[in-house]
Amino acid sequence: MKDHLLKLLREQSSAYVSSEQVCKSLKVSRAAVWKQIQALRAAGYEIEALPHYGYKLLAVPDRLYPAEIAWGLKTAVYGQNVHYFNRVESTNVAARDLARRGAVDGTLVVAEEQTGGRGRLERGWFSPAGGGIWCSLILRPPLLPSEVAPVTLTCAVAVRRAIQQVAGLEVQIKWPNDLLLDGRKVCGILTEMSAEMEKVNYIIIGMGLNVNIRTEQFPPELRDAATSLLACGGREYSRCRILQRYLEQMEDLVALWMTEGMEKILAEWKQYCVTLGRQVVVSTVREQFAGLALDVGSQGELIVEDRHGVRRTFWAGEVTLAGNRAV
Ligand code: BTN
Repeated sequence: MKDHLLKLLREQSSAYVSSEQVCKSLKVSRAAVWKQIQALRAAGYEIEALPHYGYKLLAVPDRLYPAEIAWGLKTAVYGQNVHYFNRVESTNVAARDLARRGAVDGTLVVAEEQTGGRGRLERGWFSPAGGGIWCSLILRPPLLPSEVAPVTLTCAVAVRRAIQQVAGLEVQIKWPNDLLLDGRKVCGILTEMSAEMEKVNYIIIGMGLNVNIRTEQFPPELRDAATSLLACGGREYSRCRILQRYLEQMEDLVALWMTEGMEKILAEWKQYCVTLGRQVVVSTVREQFAGLALDVGSQGELIVEDRHGVRRTFWAGEVTLAGNRAV
């Protein structure tokens, strides 16, 4: 009923919706409508109530509520089913629990704050309340486990496009899946998968984007390496609009990948990649390898050639660009 009421108010955003209109449309009493108005106000919606006129929506809160995500979202599947948390340990962990219990393809888990946000290589992920988009998308594509790797590249391209559309900022991509602004990390992607030998059960694409975090809000140890859209663009951005565009781009790009393969997506990824053609050091759990980053293959693998002409292919690891701060 709350969502229905909100929809009525939005549809007439510049006018008053009379109490009779609301009661008739929702088929409930005036008292029940008033209770819902109070509930919406408690959730942060500013609603004017004028005797003889009715109700008018004045402002919506900066929250990633399912109703906010749904308003203006143009997808068929992705993000149509949302699990919202004000605070959660990690959206990837919550998504895994939901996926195990059968959550459908395209289910989105989103939180205002993560208390134990997880990064790659067992690191944490700074996720303050309202500062960014901390979300995980559950996908169930008809793929073999060996075919899943490009999903992370696809996600990086989708986030890049979403930031471009909403903020007009040009983000660069660093292998394997970091998005950079002014050489600092603005977004990270953590992909996890459950699979059997011949089939993928589900993929979880965790995406953390620093949106409205001020530089001084970052812990001192991250200040050199991390940034946010606010810090680079000089203004706050709507997390909800960015999330909507991300879901739309992701849905389009995954469909493209499934129908035509990765060629076009990979070409776009490479266009914005700062790693290729650079001297790099790749660090893995086993070793460090220095050389020229030659290419990225269709599965997202990085090909590096050292000064003796020895070529190595990396599927995972951390890249340091020569002459740059480590991000
Ligand atoms: C990285 O280390 O680059 C990956 C960071 C991924 C962070 C996101 S935030 C939403 C989702 N939930 C998590 O716990 N991690 C990912």
